[in-house]
Amino acid sequence: MTALRLRPLIAGNWKMNGSRAQNEALIADLKGRLASKPDLAADLLVCPPAAYLMQAARLVGGSAIALGAQDCHTKQSGAHTGDVSAAMLADCGCRYVILGHSERRADHAEKSEQVAAKAKAAHEAGLIAIVCVGETEAERDRGATLDVISSQLEGSVPADAAAGNLVIAYEPVWAIGTGRTPTPDDVAAVHAHIRSLLKAWFKDGAEMRILYGGSVKASNAATLMHVAEVNGALVGGASLKGEEFWGIALAAAGA
Ligand code: PGA
Repeated sequence: MTALRLRPLIAGNWKMNGSRAQNEALIADLKGRLASKPDLAADLLVCPPAAYLMQAARLVGGSAIALGAQDCHTKQSGAHTGDVSAAMLADCGCRYVILGHSERRADHAEKSEQVAAKAKAAHEAGLIAIVCVGETEAERDRGATLDVISSQLEGSVPADAAAGNLVIAYEPVWAIGTGRTPTPDDVAAVHAHIRSLLKAWFKDGAEMRILYGGSVKASNAATLMHVAEVNGALVGGASLKGEEFWGIALAAAGA
Protein backbone atom coordinates (compact mmCIF):
# COMPACT_ATOMS: atom_id res chain seq x y z
CA MET A 1 0.00 0.00 0.00
CA THR A 2 1.41 3.41 -0.87
CA ALA A 3 1.54 6.10 1.79
CA LEU A 4 -0.99 8.94 1.78
CA ARG A 5 0.51 12.19 0.57
CA LEU A 6 -0.03 14.45 3.59
CA ARG A 7 0.61 18.18 3.35
CA PRO A 8 4.06 18.67 4.88
CA LEU A 9 4.57 20.69 8.07
CA ILE A 10 7.87 22.53 8.44
CA ALA A 11 8.25 23.46 12.08
CA GLY A 12 10.99 25.74 13.38
CA ASN A 13 12.04 24.96 16.93
CA TRP A 14 13.94 28.10 17.89
CA LYS A 15 14.86 26.60 21.28
CA MET A 16 16.30 29.24 23.67
CA ASN A 17 17.39 31.59 20.90
CA GLY A 18 16.31 34.97 19.61
CA SER A 19 15.77 38.55 20.68
CA ARG A 20 13.02 40.99 19.81
CA ALA A 21 15.14 42.38 16.97
CA GLN A 22 16.19 38.98 15.64
CA ASN A 23 12.63 37.62 15.79
CA GLU A 24 11.33 40.60 13.90
CA ALA A 25 13.95 40.21 11.16
CA LEU A 26 13.47 36.45 10.81
CA ILE A 27 9.68 36.56 10.64
CA ALA A 28 9.78 39.48 8.19
CA ASP A 29 12.17 37.46 6.03
CA LEU A 30 9.89 34.40 6.06
CA LYS A 31 6.79 36.47 5.35
CA GLY A 32 8.53 38.04 2.37
CA ARG A 33 9.49 34.65 0.95
CA LEU A 34 6.00 33.28 1.49
CA ALA A 35 4.44 36.34 -0.16
CA SER A 36 6.50 35.57 -3.26
CA LYS A 37 5.21 31.98 -3.25
CA PRO A 38 1.75 31.96 -1.67
CA ASP A 39 0.93 28.57 -3.21
CA LEU A 40 3.73 26.80 -1.28
CA ALA A 41 2.50 23.23 -0.74
CA ALA A 42 3.62 23.08 2.90
CA ASP A 43 2.57 24.54 6.25
CA LEU A 44 5.08 26.76 8.04
CA LEU A 45 5.30 26.95 11.81
CA VAL A 46 7.62 28.91 14.10
CA CYS A 47 8.07 28.03 17.78
CA PRO A 48 9.88 30.86 19.61
CA PRO A 49 10.69 30.91 23.32
CA ALA A 50 7.66 31.55 25.56
CA ALA A 51 8.84 35.07 26.37
CA TYR A 52 8.45 36.08 22.73
CA LEU A 53 5.15 34.40 21.86
CA MET A 54 3.08 37.58 22.08
CA GLN A 55 5.57 39.45 19.91
CA ALA A 56 5.70 36.61 17.40
CA ALA A 57 1.88 36.35 17.34
CA ARG A 58 1.73 39.99 16.28
CA LEU A 59 4.49 39.50 13.69
CA VAL A 60 2.98 36.42 12.00
CA GLY A 61 -0.52 37.94 12.13
CA GLY A 62 -2.19 38.05 8.74
CA SER A 63 0.27 35.54 7.24
CA ALA A 64 0.01 31.80 6.76
CA ILE A 65 2.83 31.20 9.27
CA ALA A 66 1.50 29.40 12.33
CA LEU A 67 2.75 29.93 15.86
CA GLY A 68 3.72 27.27 18.38
CA ALA A 69 5.34 26.95 21.79
CA GLN A 70 8.05 24.59 23.04
CA ASP A 71 6.37 23.20 26.17
CA CYS A 72 3.31 23.55 28.40
CA HIS A 73 2.19 22.44 31.85
CA THR A 74 -0.20 19.58 32.49
CA LYS A 75 -2.65 21.96 34.25
CA GLN A 76 -4.40 25.00 32.79
CA SER A 77 -3.81 27.31 35.76
CA GLY A 78 -2.78 27.30 39.40
CA ALA A 79 0.16 27.43 41.77
CA HIS A 80 2.96 26.39 39.39
CA THR A 81 5.63 29.06 39.54
CA GLY A 82 7.46 29.62 36.29
CA ASP A 83 5.19 27.43 34.19
CA VAL A 84 2.95 28.27 31.27
CA SER A 85 -0.32 26.48 30.51
CA ALA A 86 -1.72 25.29 27.21
CA ALA A 87 -4.74 27.56 27.68
CA MET A 88 -2.37 30.54 27.97
CA LEU A 89 -0.53 29.49 24.82
CA ALA A 90 -3.81 29.26 22.93
CA ASP A 91 -4.81 32.65 24.34
CA CYS A 92 -1.53 34.10 22.98
CA GLY A 93 -2.28 32.86 19.47
CA CYS A 94 -0.48 29.50 19.42
CA ARG A 95 -1.89 26.63 17.38
CA TYR A 96 0.85 24.11 18.19
CA VAL A 97 3.02 23.08 21.11
CA ILE A 98 6.14 20.90 20.95
CA LEU A 99 6.12 18.32 23.77
CA GLY A 100 8.61 15.78 25.04
CA HIS A 101 11.56 17.14 23.08
CA SER A 102 14.68 15.17 23.97
CA GLU A 103 16.23 18.31 25.49
CA ARG A 104 13.29 18.54 27.90
CA ARG A 105 13.44 14.82 28.57
CA ALA A 106 17.17 15.28 29.39
CA ASP A 107 17.24 18.74 31.06
CA HIS A 108 13.99 18.41 33.02
CA ALA A 109 13.76 14.64 33.40
CA GLU A 110 10.43 14.60 31.59
CA LYS A 111 8.95 11.14 31.40
CA SER A 112 6.59 9.89 28.73
CA GLU A 113 3.69 9.82 31.19
CA GLN A 114 4.12 13.54 31.80
CA VAL A 115 4.38 14.20 28.06
CA ALA A 116 1.03 12.42 27.57
CA ALA A 117 -0.56 14.54 30.31
CA LYS A 118 0.81 17.68 28.67
CA ALA A 119 -0.53 16.56 25.29
CA LYS A 120 -3.93 15.99 26.86
CA ALA A 121 -3.83 19.51 28.34
CA ALA A 122 -2.82 20.85 24.92
CA HIS A 123 -5.79 19.11 23.32
CA GLU A 124 -8.18 20.48 25.94
CA ALA A 125 -6.92 23.96 25.06
CA GLY A 126 -7.46 23.32 21.35
CA LEU A 127 -3.76 23.04 20.49
CA ILE A 128 -2.04 20.57 18.19
CA ALA A 129 0.61 18.63 20.14
CA ILE A 130 3.89 17.81 18.41
CA VAL A 131 5.08 14.81 20.42
CA CYS A 132 8.80 14.04 20.05
CA VAL A 133 10.38 10.61 20.26
CA GLY A 134 13.85 9.34 19.43
CA GLU A 135 16.58 6.93 20.41
CA THR A 136 20.01 7.72 21.81
CA GLU A 137 23.12 6.56 20.02
CA ALA A 138 23.68 3.78 22.57
CA GLU A 139 20.14 2.53 22.03
CA ARG A 140 20.65 2.51 18.26
CA ASP A 141 23.99 0.72 18.61
CA ARG A 142 22.45 -2.09 20.58
CA GLY A 143 19.63 -2.48 18.06
CA ALA A 144 16.92 -1.18 20.38
CA THR A 145 15.69 1.73 18.22
CA LEU A 146 12.24 0.41 17.33
CA ASP A 147 11.56 -0.82 20.87
CA VAL A 148 12.51 2.57 22.31
CA ILE A 149 10.27 4.35 19.81
CA SER A 150 7.37 1.99 20.59
CA SER A 151 7.59 2.52 24.31
CA GLN A 152 8.06 6.30 24.06
CA LEU A 153 5.08 6.58 21.73
CA GLU A 154 2.92 4.29 23.80
CA GLY A 155 3.69 6.35 26.90
CA SER A 156 3.58 9.83 25.36
CA VAL A 157 0.56 9.82 23.06
CA PRO A 158 -2.76 10.35 24.85
CA ALA A 159 -5.78 8.23 23.96
CA ASP A 160 -7.76 11.31 22.85
CA ALA A 161 -5.37 12.01 19.97
CA ALA A 162 -6.58 12.39 16.38
CA ALA A 163 -5.07 13.57 13.11
CA GLY A 164 -6.37 17.07 13.83
CA ASN A 165 -4.52 17.45 17.13
CA LEU A 166 -1.42 15.26 17.01
CA VAL A 167 1.84 15.39 15.08
CA ILE A 168 4.70 13.02 15.84
CA ALA A 169 8.32 14.13 15.46
CA TYR A 170 10.94 11.41 15.15
CA GLU A 171 14.22 12.93 16.33
CA PRO A 172 17.17 10.61 16.91
CA VAL A 173 18.90 12.20 19.91
CA TRP A 174 22.33 11.66 18.34
CA ALA A 175 21.29 13.60 15.22
CA ILE A 176 20.11 16.73 17.05
CA GLY A 177 22.49 19.63 16.56
CA THR A 178 25.33 17.35 15.49
CA GLY A 179 25.24 17.63 11.71
CA ARG A 180 24.78 13.84 11.56
CA THR A 181 21.64 12.27 10.11
CA PRO A 182 20.41 8.70 9.74
CA THR A 183 20.40 7.18 6.27
CA PRO A 184 17.15 7.49 4.31
CA ASP A 185 16.63 3.74 4.83
CA ASP A 186 16.96 4.14 8.59
CA VAL A 187 14.52 7.05 8.59
CA ALA A 188 12.11 5.03 6.43
CA ALA A 189 12.23 2.07 8.82
CA VAL A 190 11.42 4.18 11.88
CA HIS A 191 8.70 6.19 10.15
CA ALA A 192 7.07 3.01 8.81
CA HIS A 193 7.12 1.62 12.35
CA ILE A 194 5.53 4.78 13.79
CA ARG A 195 2.91 4.76 11.04
CA SER A 196 1.97 1.15 11.74
CA LEU A 197 1.51 1.92 15.45
CA LEU A 198 -0.57 5.03 14.77
CA LYS A 199 -2.77 3.08 12.36
CA ALA A 200 -3.24 0.31 14.90
CA TRP A 201 -4.20 2.77 17.66
CA PHE A 202 -6.24 5.43 15.86
CA LYS A 203 -8.84 5.21 13.13
CA ASP A 204 -7.26 8.21 11.38
CA GLY A 205 -3.69 7.11 12.15
CA ALA A 206 -2.86 7.15 8.44
CA GLU A 207 -3.49 10.91 8.40
CA MET A 208 -1.34 11.91 11.38
CA ARG A 209 1.76 13.77 10.26
CA ILE A 210 5.13 12.28 11.19
CA LEU A 211 8.00 14.77 11.03
CA TYR A 212 11.68 13.94 10.89
CA GLY A 213 14.00 16.11 13.02
CA GLY A 214 17.75 16.21 13.66
CA SER A 215 20.24 18.26 11.62
CA VAL A 216 17.80 19.01 8.80
CA LYS A 217 19.11 21.78 6.56
CA ALA A 218 18.39 23.05 3.07
CA SER A 219 21.13 20.88 1.55
CA ASN A 220 19.84 17.54 2.92
CA ALA A 221 16.12 18.33 3.00
CA ALA A 222 15.27 16.97 -0.43
CA THR A 223 16.72 13.57 0.51
CA LEU A 224 15.09 13.40 3.94
CA MET A 225 11.74 14.92 2.99
CA HIS A 226 11.16 12.43 0.19
CA VAL A 227 11.50 9.36 2.36
CA ALA A 228 8.21 7.43 2.60
CA GLU A 229 6.04 8.46 5.58
CA VAL A 230 8.04 11.63 6.23
CA ASN A 231 5.47 14.41 6.36
CA GLY A 232 7.69 17.36 7.16
CA ALA A 233 10.50 18.43 9.44
CA LEU A 234 11.16 19.69 12.96
CA VAL A 235 14.08 22.04 12.44
CA GLY A 236 16.33 23.47 15.15
CA GLY A 237 19.49 25.34 14.13
CA ALA A 238 18.52 25.85 10.50
CA SER A 239 15.18 27.40 11.50
CA LEU A 240 17.05 30.47 12.75
CA LYS A 241 18.14 31.36 9.22
CA GLY A 242 15.40 32.44 6.82
CA GLU A 243 17.11 31.13 3.71
CA GLU A 244 17.80 27.70 5.25
CA PHE A 245 14.31 27.29 6.68
CA TRP A 246 12.76 28.35 3.41
CA GLY A 247 15.00 25.97 1.48
CA ILE A 248 13.74 23.11 3.65
CA ALA A 249 10.14 24.17 3.06
CA LEU A 250 10.69 24.28 -0.71
CA ALA A 251 12.26 20.83 -0.68
CA ALA A 252 9.39 19.38 1.36
CA ALA A 253 6.83 21.01 -0.91
CA GLY A 254 8.59 19.53 -3.92
CA ALA A 255 8.97 23.05 -5.34
P1 PGA B 1 18.63 20.57 14.93
O1 PGA B 1 17.53 20.39 16.09
O2 PGA B 1 17.87 20.82 13.65
O3 PGA B 1 19.44 21.76 15.36
O4 PGA B 1 19.41 19.30 14.88
C1 PGA B 1 16.32 19.74 15.84
C2 PGA B 1 15.48 19.72 17.08
O5 PGA B 1 16.03 19.51 18.17
O6 PGA B 1 14.25 19.91 17.02
